[in-house]
Amino acid sequence: MQITIEVLRRENAESAPHWERFSCEADSSATVMTALIDRNAQLAAEGKPVIAYECSCLQKKCGACAMVVNGRPCLACDAKLLDVQKKGVILVEPLRKFPVIADLIVDRHILYENLKALHIWLESECIADGKQAELAYEASRCLQCGCCLEVCPNFCPGDTFFGMAAFVPTARLLSELPPSELGQLRRVYRKHIYEGCGKSLSCRNICPAGLDIDKLLVNSHAVAIWKRK
Ligand code: SF4
Ligand code: SF4
Ligand code: FES
Repeated sequence: MQITIEVLRRENAESAPHWERFSCEADSSATVMTALIDRNAQLAAEGKPVIAYECSCLQKKCGACAMVVNGRPCLACDAKLLDVQKKGVILVEPLRKFPVIADLIVDRHILYENLKALHIWLESECIADGKQAELAYEASRCLQCGCCLEVCPNFCPGDTFFGMAAFVPTARLLSELPPSELGQLRRVYRKHIYEGCGKSLSCRNICPAGLDIDKLLVNSHAVAIWKRK
């Protein structure tokens, strides 16, 4: 099937955005990312500026290639052209809640600033087992891609509410630490996650890692807010 792809391009943060169109032949394995890779080979051969994007694993494991495809945030390496096209057209844009650096690359450093503000690291050895180990493993699958923040009605970079991308790593630590070491984490959890979340769960359906967000929320609220293990 012949597909038309339109990419929202911008040379740098200051320049005005414009749509650039190209066509490609889609088979059942072609993804938005393979189309961008092929397009860049063409542009490079013609001596034209290539499309800037992030990509590393090509296996839905690193989260680098998150972008908005036909209005929906997703991983470009997981977005099959035949599945995401609408009437043969695919619009590709950068994530919209972060400043654009160039074309499809955005500055997601606020994700890491928020994690630092939460102080989520272990200061001594900690061994989770049973149900807690299962929860910790589930939370460890978060890619820090930012797709959940794109659809969250309450997340705005720089605000007090840090969103689901900060919640999931916090949920991991809440499931691992003994109650005696939870004081500070409970405080930041209430302030930066619990109080700002409207529980609409838009984030749950968009998460490309398919995390069991309901289960993580139930456990984390029990531990951090209701103080039950
Ligand atoms: S919770 Fe899901 S959507 Fe959000 S950053 Fe982690 S993997 Fe991405
Ligand atoms: S449940 Fe709703 S408000 Fe809370 S993080 Fe998810 S999308 Fe945002
Ligand atoms: S390139 Fe790693 S998730 Fe797409």
